[in-house]
Amino acid sequence: MTHNIEARRIPFEFTDAIAPVWNPTQHEWSHMLNGASLTMPYLEPFLNRTMRAALPLIDDAHLREDIDGFVRQEAQHFSNHRRYNEMLKANGYPELADTERTFEEDYEALEKRSLEWRLAYSAGFETMTIGVTDWLVNDREALFQNADPTVTSLVLWHMVEEAEHKSVAYDVFQAVSGNYWLRVGGLLWGSLHVGLMSRRAYIAMLKKDGLWKDWRTRLRLWKMVGRFFLKAGGAMVQGLKPDYHPDNVADPVWVDQWRHAYAGHDEQFVPLLDTKGKGIAPSFA
Ligand SMILES: [Fe+2]
Ligand SMILES: [Fe+2]
Repeated sequence: MTHNIEARRIPFEFTDAIAPVWNPTQHEWSHMLNGASLTMPYLEPFLNRTMRAALPLIDDAHLREDIDGFVRQEAQHFSNHRRYNEMLKANGYPELADTERTFEEDYEALEKRSLEWRLAYSAGFETMTIGVTDWLVNDREALFQNADPTVTSLVLWHMVEEAEHKSVAYDVFQAVSGNYWLRVGGLLWGSLHVGLMSRRAYIAMLKKDGLWKDWRTRLRLWKMVGRFFLKAGGAMVQGLKPDYHPDNVADPVWVDQWRHAYAGHDEQFVPLLDTKGKGIAPSFA
């Protein structure tokens, strides 16, 4: 069965009017998410290269079609994140260019690993993402209420599409390798690596803001890391089960509501969420 993977081209506009601390009441959380955004133009092209490298080994026509959907969605994600990241660098954080160079080096090194290993990393990262989708969508009021609508909409659109292609990297890994322990290793390594890269970026931003040495900042960061494990960790534990399949993980209801609200709009349409509205409902103006 082919999955319903729709690559939406969304022309988000990231003007200088967007504050890098896009959630004025949550400075550290803003930079944690900025840090994750910074990694996307390095991580997601790596995922795409890995999927394309596996393509000659895949006979199943449905899975080949899913790979195509996956690659097209990820390409839209990182091109929007790249534009957002450019705004961050231009809007007070030019030193992030140094952090980006370290990401480039990281992926150059990863590229030298075997295809099987790169697929395990990719499947592992995408499994962790299922937990993040669950967390960000279900906790959206606590994380995004009254925050910048463009940043909120970028992140939650990304999460919707992650839910749509959540099984692709897993299926490709299973088709090419299927080694259980490698899959477990990929889940741990992929999640940890991207987490640590994001951390490098948010440390740079918090240093710039003069907050990195502030114990209250450290406490808030640790609280958020704890929240991540509390809310997203369950999906990762599920992913360790030998009979795990991402298709058996239910998506948050909101994801479907978003898809219905977006359906029928053209490529010029930007689905901006109302972060002041109750429940950040996906009803686009
Ligand atoms: Fe993505
Ligand atoms: Fe993805």
